[in-house]
Amino acid sequence: MLYMESATTIEQVRQSVAAARTAGKRIGFVPTMGALHAGHVSLIEAAIGRCGYVVVSIFVNPTQFGPGEDFDKYPRDLEADMSICKQAGVDLIFAPSASEMYQKENITWVSVDKLTLNLCGKFRPGHFRGVTTVCAKLFNIVQPDIAFFGQKDAQQALVIKRMVADLNMPLQIVVCPTVREPDGLAVSSRNKYLSAEERKDAVLLSAALAECEKLVAAGQRSCEALIEAMRKIISESSKAQIEYISIVDTETLADIDVIEGRALVALAVKIGSTRLIDNVIISYQPRSA
Ligand code: PAF
Repeated sequence: MLYMESATTIEQVRQSVAAARTAGKRIGFVPTMGALHAGHVSLIEAAIGRCGYVVVSIFVNPTQFGPGEDFDKYPRDLEADMSICKQAGVDLIFAPSASEMYQKENITWVSVDKLTLNLCGKFRPGHFRGVTTVCAKLFNIVQPDIAFFGQKDAQQALVIKRMVADLNMPLQIVVCPTVREPDGLAVSSRNKYLSAEERKDAVLLSAALAECEKLVAAGQRSCEALIEAMRKIISESSKAQIEYISIVDTETLADIDVIEGRALVALAVKIGSTRLIDNVIISYQPRSA
């Protein structure tokens, strides 16, 4: 019989984690906003594989949503999330209220420069400041040895890693591969918003990335040509509005012109009113003579 604790207060979390640590357990942490899916389960499984005590937080963080974004309609189903976590073998769920997490007026922020300027940062002002602030708070509350993030949010993972390094936070960040539906669509809580027709068109994001990988393997190294090829594929959908298709350095996230070695290909596209993101890391290996 699987036993899972659940906490809504910071104090409860501190007590449960302290007891696990006293019992000699390594603490693993998976921060989420709920609406859990196979991607989250893969993070939980990775955490269970490396840690004796696994904490999952479920908190739809208001400070990372901009005006006009989907904070109010973001899918929330705590009961279903609890059952997924229990089934997966999670030890503790932390599902705080907004008032448990934030004072009436939050005036202390954690923000990472440079890495947040391109890609999603360009289109979602303040988003990463909200993410890094809530993650810093959650890391202080849970005090994990390892926290697990998904590669689907490639920029988020890099920004969090940099925050942890720059602020000397005593934890390790592990980034796990993107989980995909059989047709290639990256799993995401926001896929729930898609109508049946939109769901069909959503596959164009991963199809475009796959085409990019194929072209690079065939020797195409011009980012302009690669972006144009991806734009063409996504434009097959009349419901698609491209926010960005970018090819960037994997460490600085700055745009690049020519593929030399590794590069991150990332895109954000609205299908109807649903904003989806996806990415792949490609690498160009010149054939030896
Ligand atoms: O990736 C997410 O779900 C959120 O950005 C996170 C890391 C849980 C912070 O709210």
